[in-house]
Amino acid sequence: MKQQKIMKKHFLHLLFLFLPLTLLSQELNVIPKPVKAEAKGGVFTLSENTKIAYSDRELVNIADFLNDFLKEHYNLQLFEKRTARNGNNLIRFILDTSAEEESYTLDIDRNSVVIRGDRAGLFYGLQTLLQLMPTGRDETVTLPQAAIEDKPRFKYRGAMLDVGRYFFTPYEVKRFLDLMAHYKLNILHWHLTEDAGWRIEIDKYPLLTEIGAWRRGTQLAHPAETFDRLPHGGYYTKEQIREIVSYAGERNITVIPEIDMPGHTLAVLAAYPELSCTGGPFKVLEQWGIQKDVMCAGNEQTYTFIEDVLDELLEMFPSEIIHIGGDEAPKDRWKQCLKCQEKIRMEGLNDEHELQSYFVKRVGSYLQGKGRKMIGWDEIMEGGLAENAMVMSWRGEEGGIEAAKMHHEVVMAPTSFMYLDYYQGTPGEEPTNIGGNLPLEKVYSYEPLSSKIPAESHHYVVGVQGNLWMEFIHSNPKLEYMAFPRLMAVAEIGWSDSKKDFNNFSERLSHNLVWLDRKGINYRIPDVISHTHKEIEGDQFDLVLSPPVEGAKIYYTLNGEDPMQFGKPYTAKVSVKLDNSEPVEVKYIIRTVTGRVSGTRTLSFRKK
Ligand code: ACM
Ligand code: ZN
Repeated sequence: MKQQKIMKKHFLHLLFLFLPLTLLSQELNVIPKPVKAEAKGGVFTLSENTKIAYSDRELVNIADFLNDFLKEHYNLQLFEKRTARNGNNLIRFILDTSAEEESYTLDIDRNSVVIRGDRAGLFYGLQTLLQLMPTGRDETVTLPQAAIEDKPRFKYRGAMLDVGRYFFTPYEVKRFLDLMAHYKLNILHWHLTEDAGWRIEIDKYPLLTEIGAWRRGTQLAHPAETFDRLPHGGYYTKEQIREIVSYAGERNITVIPEIDMPGHTLAVLAAYPELSCTGGPFKVLEQWGIQKDVMCAGNEQTYTFIEDVLDELLEMFPSEIIHIGGDEAPKDRWKQCLKCQEKIRMEGLNDEHELQSYFVKRVGSYLQGKGRKMIGWDEIMEGGLAENAMVMSWRGEEGGIEAAKMHHEVVMAPTSFMYLDYYQGTPGEEPTNIGGNLPLEKVYSYEPLSSKIPAESHHYVVGVQGNLWMEFIHSNPKLEYMAFPRLMAVAEIGWSDSKKDFNNFSERLSHNLVWLDRKGINYRIPDVISHTHKEIEGDQFDLVLSPPVEGAKIYYTLNGEDPMQFGKPYTAKVSVKLDNSEPVEVKYIIRTVTGRVSGTRTLSFRKK
């Protein structure tokens, strides 16, 4: 009887595990999840006779995108023609200027593929189409017949790259932009200046890049307190910036530059010490942490410098929104500085917080005078928020909630959900990171519309952003490892409706990651899909595992040995015995079809 009950329970367990798989085989594996997506059964087959038709001249590069993809993955090159006419064996892009912003419809039937939308929507319809293509290299290129209607939940779907701590080449930035675009992210917040490096060419202040872009080495805070003697640096020329901005624009991505001020400016002060309170000297930061030396807010030269830099910046960046940082600016120097204290007196300010507010408001109104809008980290609210300023909420959601209530636009990027520099697995099993704990499932669970924001202020929350601070991200493979797949969860939060189903997301992800394998992206292979309950009733249980990437294999040990050396391939459920004292540790690795291997991970089961 008891045995029977256990059997039944396990049967149900298996059913729950595998039922979704069979149901979902009908589902379209698209990330982010479309508003409506219906598979109709049957396929459309591409051949060399299929043509790409586009209704307007401005769509030619969308047609080219598709052709480049087909060439790269299937060695197919299709004829492109500009026409709005219907026909068979066509992939049609039809511009609909009355469509909602970034929206599209995608209809795949036996004879043709039709995508309609505004310019951005057509680009996104194309991204959806690409995700529906077969992942195998030598297959016939078929697409599932489907009807999709789609549009974004939020207009701001961002990722932040901190290229100040470590410089990333234009090629690497573009590669990142490609991935962002593929998942319908539309904002690159480009953190271009830091204590540890200034990364953008400014003609009027050549020392910013001659001095400020380079450091002699890097003090690695842990694990071993070692000094990396490799000098580090680099910057983007104006030409490179323009090229990246335009590359992003072709992919419907706006680049918002950040010039962080008044804090995080040691690289500026190393080049121009007269902009500090003390006069220096300074050197470009070689270790991580918040610096007491910030720009002097009492010196008019500081404002002249900022306005000059912004003038050149605005020529390079068409974005309406400009990020002025504002985070982590200690007031120590200002308290001691005669100029800063004089400014406080002259402006009738109460304290150094109001001085920061004065500083931020002054920069904000300069930008407003140039037709731009300022965004800053939530510290810009301290001492009074500038008119029209947007707030990026990072120290939790409180800043964002307050700002939305005050009718300011808000981007939600709280550390606890959106800091993709945080650990995503057990620290001992992961490369060294800054700290924190932010597994994929937690990122995915984020809801930007806090219940503390009254409904009538919801629309002030314009979106979300995943942040990649680079203190411990020194290379492009590490960047890809930290960003993916978590950024795909951010993309889904930004695009799809608020209904969340992590299992469903994981299924779509497992298919999508095969694409990232093919592209050679060093994403973190997610944890194995397994029992959610780790406390087991009875002396025995059936270990049920399924791979987090389609087609991948799992190798495991139950005796603590290294699965890379001794792992058995997991092919079917395994009966595992438990005793009272010790938990059973399942150590495993995952190997994808292209041969990529995860790090060793551990699942621990114990008797209840
Ligand atoms: C920040 O993380 N300092 C905005
Ligand atoms: Zn000062």
